[in-house]
Amino acid sequence: MYPWLLFAHSVCRWLVVASLLYAIFVALRGYTGRRSFSPSNDLVRHATATIAHVQLTIGFVLYFNSPFILYFRSHFREAIQQPGYLFFGVIHILLMTLSVVLITITSSVTKRTTTDQRKFLLMLIGFTIAFIIIFIAIPWPFSPLSHRPYLRTI
Ligand code: HEM
Repeated sequence: MYPWLLFAHSVCRWLVVASLLYAIFVALRGYTGRRSFSPSNDLVRHATATIAHVQLTIGFVLYFNSPFILYFRSHFREAIQQPGYLFFGVIHILLMTLSVVLITITSSVTKRTTTDQRKFLLMLIGFTIAFIIIFIAIPWPFSPLSHRPYLRTI
């Protein structure tokens, strides 16, 4: 099960990044062009939050199945001093959970807001901050924090 979870988590990262970038583009275009907030814009908001929730769920299941995290938890005192374990055991999980909470709040407040301009502005600000946090917390091959492949194979 572990290799499949890691594979799904690696693939879903691209869906999270692509959906956020598209939602930010839609929000920016809507806000600057003073457009009306259409049902398809609302679908973009909803889909972006749903994809983030799927990745969060896979992440939590992975957390309790990963031998890497198992080692981190059972050798906490030594492992916390090693950058790789510190990253996946603490930093990655905290930052990603925080960003998905931000995406959820943004999506829910946007849904309840009545004016179209405010909807676009809320999406623009909330999703951009979440995107920046997620980008920093992804273990890209070029990341100074920790690196993993662009796409995991099974
Ligand atoms: C938007 C949210 C997230 C994104 C984009 C993301 C992305 C990634 C990526 C790209 C990897 C490297 C996969 C590989 O080794 O090929 C990874 C690893 C990992 N992620 Fe996430 N993640 C997110 C949220 C979470 C959450 C919420 C948790 C746990 C609560 C989590 C737990 C883990 C763990 C434990 C690993 C390392 C697993 C291992 O090497 O055994 N992730 N994540």
